[in-house]
Amino acid sequence: MKNVLKAMFMHSQVGSWVGKIPGVPQFYARTVWSKRMNPFFGLYGSFEDAERAATDLNHVGWNDEGIARVLVHEETHEAPQPFQTSQFAVLLWLSKLLKSGSTVLDIGGAGGIFYEICTRYDLLSMPLRWHVVDMPETVKRGIARHEELKSTMITFGTDLAEAPMSSIMLMLGVIQYLPDPLGEKGPGVLESVETLPSHIFVNKVSLTDDGEIWTIQNYITTATPYRFFSRKKFMAYFESHGYRLRDRWLVPEISVSIPFHPERTLSCLEGFYFERQPEAQTQ
Ligand SMILES: C[S@@+](CC[C@H](N)C(=O)[O-])C[C@H]1O[C@@H](n2cnc3c(N)ncnc32)[C@H](O)[C@@H]1O
Repeated sequence: MKNVLKAMFMHSQVGSWVGKIPGVPQFYARTVWSKRMNPFFGLYGSFEDAERAATDLNHVGWNDEGIARVLVHEETHEAPQPFQTSQFAVLLWLSKLLKSGSTVLDIGGAGGIFYEICTRYDLLSMPLRWHVVDMPETVKRGIARHEELKSTMITFGTDLAEAPMSSIMLMLGVIQYLPDPLGEKGPGVLESVETLPSHIFVNKVSLTDDGEIWTIQNYITTATPYRFFSRKKFMAYFESHGYRLRDRWLVPEISVSIPFHPERTLSCLEGFYFERQPEAQTQ
Protein backbone atom coordinates (compact mmCIF):
# COMPACT_ATOMS: atom_id res chain seq x y z
CA MET A 1 0.00 0.00 0.00
CA LYS A 2 2.82 2.38 0.98
CA ASN A 3 4.56 1.70 -2.33
CA VAL A 4 1.36 2.27 -4.33
CA LEU A 5 0.81 5.65 -2.64
CA LYS A 6 4.46 6.57 -3.17
CA ALA A 7 4.27 5.71 -6.89
CA MET A 8 1.04 7.70 -7.21
CA PHE A 9 2.46 10.89 -5.63
CA MET A 10 5.91 10.66 -7.17
CA HIS A 11 5.32 9.30 -10.63
CA SER A 12 1.71 9.78 -11.76
CA GLN A 13 -0.44 12.72 -12.78
CA VAL A 14 -2.45 12.14 -9.57
CA GLY A 15 0.60 13.44 -7.69
CA SER A 16 0.59 16.75 -9.52
CA TRP A 17 -3.18 17.18 -8.96
CA VAL A 18 -2.89 16.43 -5.24
CA GLY A 19 0.06 18.81 -5.01
CA LYS A 20 -2.19 21.67 -6.17
CA ILE A 21 -4.54 21.28 -3.17
CA PRO A 22 -3.66 24.18 -0.85
CA GLY A 23 -1.69 23.08 2.19
CA VAL A 24 -1.05 19.50 1.05
CA PRO A 25 2.62 19.89 -0.02
CA GLN A 26 3.47 21.83 3.16
CA PHE A 27 1.69 19.20 5.30
CA TYR A 28 3.69 16.45 3.53
CA ALA A 29 6.93 18.40 4.01
CA ARG A 30 6.42 18.81 7.76
CA THR A 31 5.06 15.36 8.56
CA VAL A 32 6.93 13.06 6.15
CA TRP A 33 9.79 14.74 4.28
CA SER A 34 11.40 16.45 7.27
CA LYS A 35 11.65 13.15 9.19
CA ARG A 36 13.24 11.02 6.48
CA MET A 37 16.70 10.45 5.04
CA ASN A 38 17.36 11.65 1.44
CA PRO A 39 13.87 12.62 0.11
CA PHE A 40 13.34 15.64 -2.14
CA PHE A 41 10.72 18.37 -1.92
CA GLY A 42 9.60 21.34 -4.00
CA LEU A 43 10.76 23.18 -7.12
CA TYR A 44 12.61 26.49 -6.81
CA GLY A 45 14.16 28.96 -9.23
CA SER A 46 17.51 29.45 -7.51
CA PHE A 47 19.85 28.13 -4.81
CA GLU A 48 18.79 31.03 -2.56
CA ASP A 49 15.04 30.32 -2.99
CA ALA A 50 15.62 26.63 -2.21
CA GLU A 51 17.70 27.55 0.82
CA ARG A 52 14.96 29.89 2.11
CA ALA A 53 12.34 27.16 1.71
CA ALA A 54 14.53 24.64 3.54
CA THR A 55 15.08 27.10 6.40
CA ASP A 56 11.36 26.96 7.20
CA LEU A 57 11.57 23.19 7.59
CA ASN A 58 14.93 22.21 9.07
CA HIS A 59 18.46 23.27 9.89
CA VAL A 60 20.15 24.01 6.53
CA GLY A 61 23.52 23.09 5.05
CA TRP A 62 26.16 20.38 5.03
CA ASN A 63 28.10 21.66 8.00
CA ASP A 64 26.08 19.55 10.41
CA GLU A 65 27.19 17.06 13.02
CA GLY A 66 24.36 14.62 12.24
CA ILE A 67 25.14 14.25 8.53
CA ALA A 68 28.90 14.28 9.21
CA ARG A 69 28.41 11.24 11.47
CA VAL A 70 26.54 9.45 8.68
CA LEU A 71 29.19 10.31 6.06
CA VAL A 72 32.33 9.56 8.01
CA HIS A 73 32.50 6.10 9.47
CA GLU A 74 34.18 5.75 12.81
CA GLU A 75 34.51 2.00 12.86
CA THR A 76 36.62 -0.19 10.57
CA HIS A 77 34.93 -3.20 9.04
CA GLU A 78 36.35 -6.67 8.66
CA ALA A 79 34.52 -7.35 5.39
CA PRO A 80 34.72 -4.91 2.43
CA GLN A 81 31.74 -2.52 2.37
CA PRO A 82 29.72 -2.21 -0.87
CA PHE A 83 29.83 1.11 -2.74
CA GLN A 84 27.98 2.73 -5.63
CA THR A 85 28.48 0.94 -8.95
CA SER A 86 29.13 4.13 -10.97
CA GLN A 87 32.25 4.80 -8.91
CA PHE A 88 33.91 1.94 -10.83
CA ALA A 89 34.08 4.19 -13.91
CA VAL A 90 36.12 6.71 -11.92
CA LEU A 91 38.27 3.94 -10.44
CA LEU A 92 39.02 2.56 -13.89
CA TRP A 93 40.18 5.93 -15.21
CA LEU A 94 42.19 6.67 -12.07
CA SER A 95 43.95 3.34 -12.44
CA LYS A 96 45.24 4.62 -15.80
CA LEU A 97 45.92 8.24 -14.83
CA LEU A 98 47.52 8.13 -11.37
CA LYS A 99 51.28 8.56 -11.58
CA SER A 100 54.09 8.95 -9.15
CA GLY A 101 53.77 12.50 -7.76
CA SER A 102 50.12 13.03 -8.76
CA THR A 103 47.93 15.28 -6.63
CA VAL A 104 44.21 14.52 -6.48
CA LEU A 105 41.81 17.24 -5.35
CA ASP A 106 38.64 15.59 -4.02
CA ILE A 107 35.97 18.29 -3.62
CA GLY A 108 33.17 17.11 -1.32
CA GLY A 109 35.22 14.02 -0.57
CA ALA A 110 33.63 13.75 2.90
CA GLY A 111 35.93 11.84 5.26
CA GLY A 112 38.11 10.50 2.44
CA ILE A 113 35.74 7.72 1.45
CA PHE A 114 36.96 7.49 -2.16
CA TYR A 115 40.58 7.52 -0.99
CA GLU A 116 39.73 4.43 1.05
CA ILE A 117 38.06 2.79 -1.95
CA CYS A 118 41.18 3.48 -4.04
CA THR A 119 43.45 1.93 -1.41
CA ARG A 120 41.24 -1.15 -1.45
CA TYR A 121 42.21 -1.60 -5.13
CA ASP A 122 45.90 -0.75 -4.52
CA LEU A 123 45.68 2.35 -6.71
CA LEU A 124 47.60 4.67 -4.42
CA SER A 125 51.29 4.63 -3.71
CA MET A 126 53.82 7.18 -2.52
CA PRO A 127 54.70 9.79 -3.62
CA LEU A 128 51.10 10.94 -4.11
CA ARG A 129 48.90 13.51 -2.42
CA TRP A 130 45.12 13.27 -2.02
CA HIS A 131 43.51 16.46 -0.73
CA VAL A 132 39.87 16.56 0.38
CA VAL A 133 37.95 19.83 0.57
CA ASP A 134 34.76 19.54 2.59
CA MET A 135 32.81 21.14 5.44
CA PRO A 136 34.45 21.69 8.88
CA GLU A 137 32.34 19.06 10.71
CA THR A 138 33.14 16.43 8.09
CA VAL A 139 36.80 17.36 7.80
CA LYS A 140 37.23 17.11 11.59
CA ARG A 141 35.96 13.53 11.50
CA GLY A 142 37.91 12.70 8.34
CA ILE A 143 41.18 13.77 9.97
CA ALA A 144 40.43 11.67 13.05
CA ARG A 145 39.52 8.64 10.95
CA HIS A 146 42.67 8.78 8.82
CA GLU A 147 44.87 9.31 11.86
CA GLU A 148 43.34 6.11 13.20
CA LEU A 149 43.89 4.32 9.86
CA LYS A 150 47.47 5.70 9.71
CA SER A 151 46.82 6.95 6.16
CA THR A 152 49.94 8.55 4.75
CA MET A 153 48.80 10.35 1.59
CA ILE A 154 45.61 12.19 2.54
CA THR A 155 45.18 15.79 3.72
CA PHE A 156 42.03 17.80 4.42
CA GLY A 157 40.92 21.42 4.15
CA THR A 158 37.78 23.50 4.12
CA ASP A 159 38.76 26.17 1.57
CA LEU A 160 38.99 25.40 -2.14
CA ALA A 161 41.08 28.50 -2.78
CA GLU A 162 43.75 27.12 -0.43
CA ALA A 163 43.80 23.62 -1.95
CA PRO A 164 47.10 22.43 -3.48
CA MET A 165 47.57 22.44 -7.25
CA SER A 166 46.24 19.16 -8.65
CA SER A 167 46.38 17.21 -11.89
CA ILE A 168 43.14 15.34 -11.16
CA MET A 169 39.97 16.91 -9.73
CA LEU A 170 37.14 14.78 -8.37
CA MET A 171 33.62 16.04 -7.76
CA LEU A 172 31.73 12.90 -6.82
CA GLY A 173 28.13 13.52 -5.77
CA VAL A 174 28.80 17.12 -4.78
CA ILE A 175 28.51 19.70 -7.57
CA GLN A 176 24.68 19.89 -7.37
CA TYR A 177 24.93 21.00 -3.73
CA LEU A 178 27.31 23.92 -4.30
CA PRO A 179 25.89 27.48 -4.25
CA ASP A 180 27.57 28.71 -7.47
CA PRO A 181 29.73 25.98 -9.03
CA LEU A 182 29.56 27.35 -12.60
CA GLY A 183 30.61 30.86 -11.61
CA GLU A 184 27.39 32.62 -12.52
CA LYS A 185 27.49 35.06 -9.60
CA GLY A 186 31.13 34.95 -8.54
CA PRO A 187 34.05 32.55 -8.91
CA GLY A 188 32.95 29.03 -9.82
CA VAL A 189 34.85 25.85 -9.00
CA LEU A 190 37.34 26.30 -11.85
CA GLU A 191 37.87 29.98 -11.06
CA SER A 192 38.63 29.12 -7.43
CA VAL A 193 41.61 26.84 -7.99
CA GLU A 194 45.12 28.14 -8.58
CA THR A 195 45.76 25.99 -11.68
CA LEU A 196 43.30 24.07 -13.81
CA PRO A 197 43.70 20.28 -13.45
CA SER A 198 44.30 18.16 -16.55
CA HIS A 199 41.52 15.72 -15.65
CA ILE A 200 38.14 16.31 -14.03
CA PHE A 201 35.70 13.61 -12.94
CA VAL A 202 32.15 14.62 -12.09
CA ASN A 203 30.09 11.65 -10.92
CA LYS A 204 26.54 11.34 -9.61
CA VAL A 205 25.34 14.66 -11.08
CA SER A 206 21.75 15.60 -11.94
CA LEU A 207 21.31 17.09 -15.43
CA THR A 208 18.14 18.05 -17.26
CA ASP A 209 17.13 19.09 -20.76
CA ASP A 210 13.86 20.54 -19.43
CA GLY A 211 14.80 23.77 -17.73
CA GLU A 212 17.07 24.14 -14.76
CA ILE A 213 15.54 23.87 -11.27
CA TRP A 214 16.54 23.51 -7.63
CA THR A 215 14.82 21.28 -5.12
CA ILE A 216 15.65 20.53 -1.47
CA GLN A 217 16.90 17.26 0.00
CA ASN A 218 16.50 16.25 3.64
CA TYR A 219 18.90 14.27 5.86
CA ILE A 220 16.87 14.26 9.11
CA THR A 221 19.13 16.69 11.03
CA THR A 222 19.66 19.06 8.10
CA ALA A 223 18.45 19.87 4.58
CA THR A 224 20.22 21.28 1.52
CA PRO A 225 19.44 22.86 -1.86
CA TYR A 226 19.96 20.44 -4.76
CA ARG A 227 20.29 21.54 -8.39
CA PHE A 228 19.17 19.93 -11.64
CA PHE A 229 21.70 21.53 -14.02
CA SER A 230 20.82 22.59 -17.52
CA ARG A 231 22.83 20.07 -19.53
CA LYS A 232 23.85 22.77 -22.04
CA LYS A 233 25.09 25.16 -19.35
CA PHE A 234 26.94 22.41 -17.48
CA MET A 235 28.80 21.16 -20.56
CA ALA A 236 29.52 24.70 -21.79
CA TYR A 237 31.20 25.59 -18.47
CA PHE A 238 33.82 22.87 -18.81
CA GLU A 239 34.25 23.42 -22.56
CA SER A 240 34.81 27.16 -22.03
CA HIS A 241 37.72 26.30 -19.72
CA GLY A 242 39.45 24.22 -22.39
CA TYR A 243 38.06 20.78 -21.55
CA ARG A 244 36.84 18.08 -23.92
CA LEU A 245 34.40 15.38 -22.90
CA ARG A 246 36.47 12.21 -22.80
CA ASP A 247 33.96 9.76 -21.28
CA ARG A 248 30.47 9.61 -19.80
CA TRP A 249 28.34 7.02 -18.06
CA LEU A 250 24.98 6.62 -16.39
CA VAL A 251 24.52 6.26 -12.65
CA PRO A 252 21.72 3.69 -12.42
CA GLU A 253 21.97 3.39 -8.64
CA ILE A 254 20.62 6.92 -7.98
CA SER A 255 17.31 8.34 -9.19
CA VAL A 256 15.57 11.53 -8.07
CA SER A 257 11.81 11.74 -7.51
CA ILE A 258 10.11 14.91 -6.29
CA PRO A 259 6.65 14.34 -4.79
CA PHE A 260 3.84 16.17 -6.65
CA HIS A 261 6.18 16.78 -9.63
CA PRO A 262 6.26 13.51 -11.60
CA GLU A 263 7.38 15.42 -14.70
CA ARG A 264 10.75 16.19 -13.01
CA THR A 265 11.70 12.60 -12.17
CA LEU A 266 15.30 11.72 -13.10
CA SER A 267 15.55 7.98 -13.61
CA CYS A 268 19.31 8.11 -13.11
CA LEU A 269 22.15 10.54 -12.51
CA GLU A 270 25.19 10.85 -14.80
CA GLY A 271 28.97 10.77 -14.70
CA PHE A 272 31.59 12.61 -16.81
CA TYR A 273 35.32 12.68 -17.44
CA PHE A 274 36.62 15.98 -18.88
CA GLU A 275 40.19 16.23 -20.17
CA ARG A 276 41.95 19.56 -20.66
CA GLN A 277 43.11 20.01 -24.23
CA PRO A 278 46.87 20.36 -24.90
CA GLU A 279 46.38 23.72 -26.66
CA ALA A 280 44.45 25.00 -23.60
CA GLN A 281 47.22 23.85 -21.22
CA THR A 282 49.62 26.40 -22.66
CA GLN A 283 47.19 29.34 -22.22
C1 LIG B 1 26.58 13.26 -1.09
S1 LIG B 1 28.07 13.59 -0.27
C2 LIG B 1 29.23 12.83 -1.40
C3 LIG B 1 30.43 12.25 -0.70
C4 LIG B 1 31.43 11.50 -1.57
N1 LIG B 1 32.11 12.39 -2.52
C5 LIG B 1 30.79 10.36 -2.30
O1 LIG B 1 30.84 10.30 -3.52
O2 LIG B 1 30.22 9.49 -1.63
C6 LIG B 1 28.30 15.30 -0.59
C7 LIG B 1 29.55 15.85 0.07
O3 LIG B 1 29.75 17.19 -0.38
C8 LIG B 1 30.13 17.99 0.73
N2 LIG B 1 29.80 19.39 0.45
C9 LIG B 1 28.60 19.98 0.32
N3 LIG B 1 28.73 21.29 0.08
C10 LIG B 1 30.06 21.55 0.06
C11 LIG B 1 30.84 22.73 -0.14
N4 LIG B 1 30.27 23.92 -0.37
N5 LIG B 1 32.19 22.62 -0.11
C12 LIG B 1 32.79 21.42 0.12
N6 LIG B 1 32.11 20.27 0.31
C13 LIG B 1 30.76 20.34 0.29
C14 LIG B 1 29.31 17.42 1.86
O4 LIG B 1 29.76 17.81 3.14
C15 LIG B 1 29.45 15.93 1.59
O5 LIG B 1 30.62 15.40 2.16
